[in-house]
Amino acid sequence: MSRGAIAILSSENLLHNVQQVKAAAPSKPMIAMVKANAFGHGIRSTSLRLEKYVDNLGVASIEEALALRKVGIKKPITLIEGVFEPDELLVAACQQFHVVFHDMMQLEWLKGLHLPLPLTAWIKVDTGMGRLGFTIDDAPHALRVLKESKFIQQPIGLMSHLSCADEPNHPLNAVQLDAFSKLAKDWQGPKSLSNSAAIFSMPQTHFDVIRPGICLYGISPVQHKKASDFNLKPVMTLQTRLISVRKREADSFVGYGGTYKCAEPMNIGVIAIGYGDGYLRSLPSHTPVLVNDKKCHLVGRISMDMAAIDLRGCDNAKVGDPVILWGEGLPIEEIIANSPMIANEMLTSVQSRVKFHWTLS
Ligand SMILES: Cc1ncc(COP(=O)(O)O)c(C=O)c1O
Repeated sequence: MSRGAIAILSSENLLHNVQQVKAAAPSKPMIAMVKANAFGHGIRSTSLRLEKYVDNLGVASIEEALALRKVGIKKPITLIEGVFEPDELLVAACQQFHVVFHDMMQLEWLKGLHLPLPLTAWIKVDTGMGRLGFTIDDAPHALRVLKESKFIQQPIGLMSHLSCADEPNHPLNAVQLDAFSKLAKDWQGPKSLSNSAAIFSMPQTHFDVIRPGICLYGISPVQHKKASDFNLKPVMTLQTRLISVRKREADSFVGYGGTYKCAEPMNIGVIAIGYGDGYLRSLPSHTPVLVNDKKCHLVGRISMDMAAIDLRGCDNAKVGDPVILWGEGLPIEEIIANSPMIANEMLTSVQSRVKFHWTLS
């Protein structure tokens, strides 16, 4: 019997989620965000499944983009943070990567370069996120520089990112939309503002191109809402199995630090997954798990390779039985409900020693 920690990835649910995005923003071209190893799902395998259904794939680095070309992805790929050094512009042009420009330094790098093919470019403006992007005032200058470069394909795109879209009533959404709309009014190229949350809850942000991320993986993009509220289905189910079931006496301690004391004689199960697999140590006691489809919960601290569960809700549980940590039947939103973590953090933490297995679509 192998250790049993496995991420089961549903091709069917991935494509189902793409369809929900298309229904929410009909006929809008889509840059599907597959950065950070496709939010932990595997950048190559996820992108190969998505390619036919989306217009463009969004990555954070040239390395991620090249990994996609290497497995035969032909669709356009957008470097969402642009290039990190001048030489990458040459690679981007040769590979037909679309490049975001967000800083004067990147414009400087264009000078003196000879590119073999024209680059498709986006200008990113900071409308309120306070992260990357030209200020609204600097955007016309950036546009001029790119317009004057003979290596930049016309027209040039305009992009910004919302900081609070997961809270649809947050006042910053209106501020950012207003700033973006003013700039977008006379902009000739494609315009893009919406991430997952905005796609579903702020149609006025759709403009010309949408950029879904977390919703593709079947996670609710909006705080205090469930994925099922948007008809999204989880792509990843993280599963392992019981490797020990033992009766513990009342007052016995469980796990490092003795942080959990059994209140009565009870069955404690040990599961083969821990923070070394990406099942984060900061998850608190009482985090739910599914044992034979019955809800039980964690007790004590998560160790590197193991975690303990209270089996009082599941009397027949035995060694070898499957235990779901999140996914089908146990939305990740429930796992993070009482923790400061977000689903993206959980998903991108899953380690390569967990076996990844895609279902056939
Ligand atoms: C520039 C940009 N656009 C779109 C997205 C997708 O965001 P979400 O996962 O909220 O849909 C991200 C993700 O972080 C991003 O950085």
